[in-house]
Amino acid sequence: MSPGAAGEPGDLAARAEAAVAGFTSTGSKTPEALFGGPGGPTHLVRASGARVETAGGRRLLDWTMALGAVALGYGHPRVAEAAARAARDGAVGPLPHRLEIELAERLVAGYPGAEQARFFKTGAEAVHAAVRLARVATGRERVVHAGYHGWLDGATTGAGVPAATAALWTGVAFDDGAALAAAVAGTGPGGRGGAPAAIVLEPVIERAPSRAWLEEARRLADRHGAVLIYDEIKTGFRLARGGAAERWQVAPDLAVLGKALANGFPLAAVVGRRTVMARARDTWISSTLATEFVALAAAGAVLDVWDETDVAGHLAGVGRSVLHALGQGVGGEAAARGAPWTAAGLPEMWFLRFADPQAERRFLLACVERGVLLKRGAYDFPSLAHDAAAVEETVAAIRAVTAELEPAR
Ligand SMILES: Cc1ncc(COP(=O)(O)O)c(C=O)c1O
Repeated sequence: MSPGAAGEPGDLAARAEAAVAGFTSTGSKTPEALFGGPGGPTHLVRASGARVETAGGRRLLDWTMALGAVALGYGHPRVAEAAARAARDGAVGPLPHRLEIELAERLVAGYPGAEQARFFKTGAEAVHAAVRLARVATGRERVVHAGYHGWLDGATTGAGVPAATAALWTGVAFDDGAALAAAVAGTGPGGRGGAPAAIVLEPVIERAPSRAWLEEARRLADRHGAVLIYDEIKTGFRLARGGAAERWQVAPDLAVLGKALANGFPLAAVVGRRTVMARARDTWISSTLATEFVALAAAGAVLDVWDETDVAGHLAGVGRSVLHALGQGVGGEAAARGAPWTAAGLPEMWFLRFADPQAERRFLLACVERGVLLKRGAYDFPSLAHDAAAVEETVAAIRAVTAELEPAR
């Protein structure tokens, strides 16, 4: 059992432990994942802008932003209104809603090289659909990938994943062109003979990719007749409307979008070249609620906001301010002071890296005491709702906690 933090109802943690398998249905929201163990708040009652209210009545400035699912701020009025209207209009029906076409047209127009779209509820599901399309298009089975792509078989390995499925997926290091080439040729570690159906890349893993790596992936895919898929679940609608493909100007065949796409409503999409997308007719990819239109309406409102506001510019500006204040990188102000963390990442998805998990835990819990919620072992995500005052509040809390914990190290 995980007792609640001071002022937080510990009975919720006990009830979660008893009633919800694994404490919560989103693995990255357990006390272990958030803080490295019990002691922090475990449940919330509402979220608004960049703030959350915990079940214990505590208000926190949040940087996890629901694991990057929210880039405009929680409960963004336009998104909430569009979703509420769609809910009142029935949410689902016997025919697909016209919103599906409108959203597909708008997504395709905003993503380099894309011609068609298809909708899903989760990122993992959409990645698997993209891989299925690649398999149909190539008649092959192997997948070479870099990064995390959700919990489904193959994209993750471990207990319960059939060995035969896991063996079809070869993981390669981020931003390593030689390793990618070897894996595609089937000669690298874990590589097996035969060209892959797909090369699936998370375009950003803790740092920006070299453009050369993306170009090498493009070249390898073309040479070996594989489908190049960018997993832009975190980078889409964050680095740019067209994600990493727009930022680094190397287009994949397919891209997977999710998270910020509908600002917290359950929606993911595969977008890409018609020749591959159209193979959806040659296999069975379908889900009852893929066409519910609350999430489609929410995503439409998100696109409206992107049309009118420089969302990417704001996210980058906020993140840059934080990283600047924290002295990003080795040799920066923080490292010089001997802080237990180093600020790293991209402005749009920054993080604090700790060498000592105990120091990390103490630090994160102390930040919560000062009203700031940072993500353990993963990104902190700026949103449109984070402003200069939020940055100041965060930097002040981080500095104060760093100074306060110094004697304990
Ligand atoms: C890059 C990437 N791909 C896929 C996924 C899986 O998405 P979901 O959790 O919506 O299934 C995630 C989730 O964190 C992700 O970051």
